[in-house]
Amino acid sequence: MIATDVISGQVKGAPSALPADHIGNGFFGQDILSVRQFDREKLDYIYRVADEMRSLVKRFGKANLLDGKILANLFYEPSTRTSSSFQAAMLRLGGRSISINEVHYSSVTKGESLPDTVRTLESYCDLTVLRHPVTGSAELAARYARKPLINAGDGTGEHPTQALLDIYTVENDLGRLDGLKVAMMGDLKYGRTVHSLTRLLSLYETELYFVSPEILRMPDEILGEVRASGHNYTELRDVDEIIGEIDVLYITRVQKERFEDPAQYDEVKGCYVVDPALMAHAKSDMILMHPLPRVYEIAMEVDDDPRAAYFRQMENGMYIRMALLAAVLGKA
Ligand code: NCD
Repeated sequence: MIATDVISGQVKGAPSALPADHIGNGFFGQDILSVRQFDREKLDYIYRVADEMRSLVKRFGKANLLDGKILANLFYEPSTRTSSSFQAAMLRLGGRSISINEVHYSSVTKGESLPDTVRTLESYCDLTVLRHPVTGSAELAARYARKPLINAGDGTGEHPTQALLDIYTVENDLGRLDGLKVAMMGDLKYGRTVHSLTRLLSLYETELYFVSPEILRMPDEILGEVRASGHNYTELRDVDEIIGEIDVLYITRVQKERFEDPAQYDEVKGCYVVDPALMAHAKSDMILMHPLPRVYEIAMEVDDDPRAAYFRQMENGMYIRMALLAAVLGKA
């Protein structure tokens, strides 16, 4: 279904073939599967709507924009922030959600396929949010779905809504996106958040640094895309030589669940730790980001440092998801 949507520009679930750009800056009725769907103009649109959502929540707590709409939250992998912020976003816009977090208790255990599960849920709901351990699963599910589907993380592939909230946080905290030096550090191989983030940052005038152990390097496919977008990047094993120059340090968890060999995970699990000693070498206006959950990567003593942006990221996630839901369901 997604393929036809992208090619024909038709709106999923619309009674007649409305052009995709008719409402919500082209988001109405569309799937959100990859950050490749965004350009700077679309990002800016979502950020300005997210700003409005922030002030709406601060002033009124909620609105009735999505009154009567139902979201299906289908999670085949653990989640705290993504699933609860989608639910909170829906509730604050006056809609409701159905959550299938424990797929073990659903018909998936009986052998039901992903397309069938998605088709079942969308007969009761207006939009599906899907997290799944297999790369490409969101695209597969969207092909069968008649209603919009949002990718909330597909294996080691992408996590588009996380990257949207990450960039929104950078813009909020630093006031700009062009002219920044951004380092991503940790598990760049399996971390889907850094895959999506790298692609989005390539839309801006950024200088990128990829800091990882050899076995967790950023995949060649993504490095190729960065080169093709005309950007320079530097791969490093250690952050020490650049810590004093960068504007953003984005650190990730080593993705234990993706390793075939547990011994290999043990070798790299504690490879980078951000502590007050490292922060002492960073610029006074550098921001430290993490998609969370953290395991070993950031010492808790760093939490009170005003440069620690990871709790702000979490909150921004709800405003970004409110903006996306309103845009996709046609009320932005
Ligand atoms: C991330 C994910 O699921 O990819 N978490 C999140 O959504 N904030 C990062 C991770 O699990 O390490």
